[in-house]
Amino acid sequence: MTTLLRIDSSLRRDGSDSRALADRFVAAWRRRHPDGQVRIRDLAAEPVPHLDGATLAALATAPEARDAEAAGRVALADALIAEFMAADELVLAVPMYNFGIPSTLKAYLDHVARAGVTFRYTAAGPEGLAGDRRVTLLLTRGGRYTGSPLDHQAPYLRTVFNFLGITDIQEVVAEGLNIDADSRTQALAAAVERLNGRKEAA
Ligand SMILES: Cc1cc2nc3c(=O)[nH]c(=O)nc-3n(C[C@H](O)[C@H](O)[C@H](O)COP(=O)(O)O)c2cc1C
Repeated sequence: MTTLLRIDSSLRRDGSDSRALADRFVAAWRRRHPDGQVRIRDLAAEPVPHLDGATLAALATAPEARDAEAAGRVALADALIAEFMAADELVLAVPMYNFGIPSTLKAYLDHVARAGVTFRYTAAGPEGLAGDRRVTLLLTRGGRYTGSPLDHQAPYLRTVFNFLGITDIQEVVAEGLNIDADSRTQALAAAVERLNGRKEAA
């Protein structure tokens, strides 16, 4: 069965443009995959804790030597990775926060990018182990940052997913949402058009 993992990261539950784009994406995906399964990981509703020293230590401890607390930390990280790897396709709804991504999403990615599991180091350099899945990035921004060196949202996400071996990355950007009403209307219309597949991204 085809599985889509939807990852939300906007702190806004109501009135979130990235979530609205994800709703549209998922509705279209369901039409294309009537028997498919959609899993939702909402990082605002259920934030993943920061990857901390105790979790790193737990991961480095042999399973039989972990106490209950350490085992719990590893179980959470393992569950996140299992969910990620079980997905044939991922869609991430990501607002730009302070030029980058929401910290909850960074914490999530810190758990998912694990040496020996989702990537490995080889003599020839790092090798991603999570290829063979498509990622769609739904990126929202109050200002306009496409092509700007200040954009640490799209390039960062591309880098991380490439690092994990994922090369099939689609992007839908809705930016300039907080500039004025016209800018917002045009940006959302263009994003929806792109989502509907009628227009290729620039
Ligand atoms: C904490 C915070 C930081 C933000 N930082 C930026 C930023 O650096 N650049 C930008 O263009 N917009 C910034 N914004 C605006 C959001 O990116 C914009 O409103 C986006 O559409 C929010 O997506 P959402 O509607 O899914 O929540 C910020 C918003 C918040 C709440």
